Amino acid sequence: MNKSLLDYILRVRLPITLFVIIAAFTVTYFASRPIDNGIGYSPAQPINFSHKLHAGLMRIDCEYCHTGVEKSRNAMVPAVSTCMNCHSIARKDKPEIIKLRKYYFNNIALPWVRVHKVPDFVYFNHSVHVNSGIKCESCHGNVREMDRITQVHSFSMSACLDCHRNPQQYLPYLKNVKHGPDNCFACHR
Ligand code: HEC
Ligand code: HEC
Ligand code: HEC
Ligand code: HEC
Ligand code: HEC
Repeated sequence: MNKSLLDYILRVRLPITLFVIIAAFTVTYFASRPIDNGIGYSPAQPINFSHKLHAGLMRIDCEYCHTGVEKSRNAMVPAVSTCMNCHSIARKDKPEIIKLRKYYFNNIALPWVRVHKVPDFVYFNHSVHVNSGIKCESCHGNVREMDRITQVHSFSMSACLDCHRNPQQYLPYLKNVKHGPDNCFACHR
């Protein structure tokens, strides 16, 4: 290779390429990152749906709406049709339910604002955690008392690892609790 070409690659192309890679990573990383590790994040939702009312007072099971928790990676948020199982009758004349019914009859998915989120380069699976007996509360706090969902625990790497290494401390209600993995490829595949 001729010397000036090599010089050009090292002095001009390489720094530009590196800059683009780092900038792209930083932008996607920070854009998907919640503020302050997400703790306290409690965005307004398109409908004032209350967990305190539905999961607390009325004691509807979490799984009735979050059908994925025992079966898959994602917990899932219910479709409007699940709400309509009751709200085709219950509180039909209330403003929030009138709004809800508009989404349903116009066939529009509710634009719920996502609260808990790990970056795309992290692998997390609900079913593995839930099926080993870990309660929703251990990661999401006392949802049954929340009118509006708020993130109460951090999902930083050190927070995941802390529970994986000291599960007894975080899951005192489990008898023979296994440790979670701490090798990089378990969570970054
Ligand atoms: C009647 C249906 C229903 C029931 C029952 C229900 N949820 Fe939800 N849940 C929703 C809906 C709708 C959303 C999205 C809107 C919101 O965040 O309030 C949601 C959101 C959530 C979120 C936040 C999702 C995110 O964006 O990060 C968590 C955590 C959650 N629910 C946990 C629970 C737990 C734990 C229970 C049981 C104690 C439960 N839910 C029971 C309907 C339900
Ligand atoms: C199992 C039945 C059931 C399901 C499923 C259900 N709800 Fe309800 N919901 C009720 C009942 C009953 C009330 C009234 C409770 C009360 O006021 O004591 C209510 C109240 C409400 C209210 C307050 C209405 C008011 O009085 O202003 C909203 C908003 C609401 N529900 C939204 C939803 C949404 C959104 C979903 C789906 C994610 C949903 N509900 C699923 C039974 C249900
Ligand atoms: C070991 C911790 C942990 C447990 C236990 C847990 N979650 Fe989650 N949950 C998370 C994390 C982490 C996220 C973000 C996942 C992501 O971004 O892929 C999340 C996200 C969610 C979401 C957002 C939507 C989705 O599909 O991911 C809902 C809803 C939810 N959890 C409900 C529940 C319910 C209901 C339970 C109990 C049956 C539960 N979670 C148990 C850690 C947990
Ligand atoms: C409250 C405790 C707790 C928290 C918080 C927690 N985990 Fe776990 N995790 C466990 C336990 C316990 C196991 C082992 C389950 C088993 O083997 O039965 C596990 C297993 C796993 C596994 C291996 C099983 C699989 O799905 O391949 C992965 C990956 C994992 N956790 C990722 C995460 C990530 C990512 C986070 C943070 C966002 C997290 N965990 C937060 C307790 C926790
Ligand atoms: C139990 C799951 C888990 C394990 C094991 C794990 N990580 Fe992570 N890692 C995460 C989570 C969750 C994040 C996202 C943190 C955030 O958004 O604040 C992350 C973020 C990162 C980042 C982005 C920068 C940062 O610090 O936020 C790097 C780099 C990284 N991990 C490298 C590693 C390496 C190297 C290992 C092995 C020594 C490892 N991880 C093991 C869950 C894990």
